[in-house]
Amino acid sequence: MRSYVMAETSANQQQSTYWTENAGRQWVQQQAQFDRQLVHFGNAALGALQAEPGEHILDIGCGTGTTTLAIADAVGSTGWVIGADISTTMIAASSERTIGRPTVSFVVADAQTDRIAPIDHDADAMFSRFGVMFFADPTAAFTNLASNVRAGGRLAFVCWQREELNEWISLPAQIMRTFTPEPVLPPANAPGPFAFRDRDRVKSVLTSAGWSAVQIEPFSAQTMLGAGLGLEAAVNQSMSTTAGQNLRAQVDEATFAAAQDAIRAEFSQRLVDDAVSFDGNVWLVTAER
Ligand SMILES: C[S@@+](CC[C@H](N)C(=O)[O-])C[C@H]1O[C@@H](n2cnc3c(N)ncnc32)[C@H](O)[C@@H]1O
Repeated sequence: MRSYVMAETSANQQQSTYWTENAGRQWVQQQAQFDRQLVHFGNAALGALQAEPGEHILDIGCGTGTTTLAIADAVGSTGWVIGADISTTMIAASSERTIGRPTVSFVVADAQTDRIAPIDHDADAMFSRFGVMFFADPTAAFTNLASNVRAGGRLAFVCWQREELNEWISLPAQIMRTFTPEPVLPPANAPGPFAFRDRDRVKSVLTSAGWSAVQIEPFSAQTMLGAGLGLEAAVNQSMSTTAGQNLRAQVDEATFAAAQDAIRAEFSQRLVDDAVSFDGNVWLVTAER
């Protein structure tokens, strides 16, 4: 594993704390469930990336590294892949998966400001599964990322469309709102899962950051909470999302437990084959450098 490259105080300090503390720990604990929830979207983005043997690729906001390892399989023994994430918790978990995989490395880095590719070797492409919506300054971040990719290189990522089209979070968020006067999801365009909900904004950010041939296509698939483990796992996963994390910070334990009970009651009506499934709607984004 390469050494940590992130500056001591990150431009995205709040996100660094968020993804290193509670959210990061829960994500690591529930890795298999989050992977199952996101599998169709990740596969669509990997399909759009079209990684070839011998290529050098960056996986941005790689989390626990599942897509990084998939890319490593595609680039083979003559290529390499670097997974970068702002969370030390996530990178500690992903780094455990590099054993016997010399072409994979993971680094702690703020994608908005840090150099991620080796200093003397730009990457052929960058990829992300839901890891690029958390930047304080998205244009600065995508400008920095462009400088890590060679001229003529490419980008492929997936990000969520607006929350109303993603009931897996908007439905529990509505229930949570009956237990708190505060919003549980960040405002439109603020860093968070729905920062790139608006297609025109994504296009404008990428174009301003120097990317061209920007294509943004809608893609829909089932998104499953509980990952075959059943109702309780689905409820726990829901309470680990941004909405659940925000609720936890806003209310006392008894109120949090009451909200959890209300979500359990709603999910119990929707349980099929040990998972609670919703339609998920994302943007599939590709561009060239
Ligand atoms: C929703 S998770 C997705 C994780 C992973 N890509 C997956 O699909 O399993 C978002 C990830 O983006 C990372 N992230 C947020 N802001 C970042 C930044 N400025 N630089 C690098 N990673 C960041 C978080 O730490 C987190 O791991």
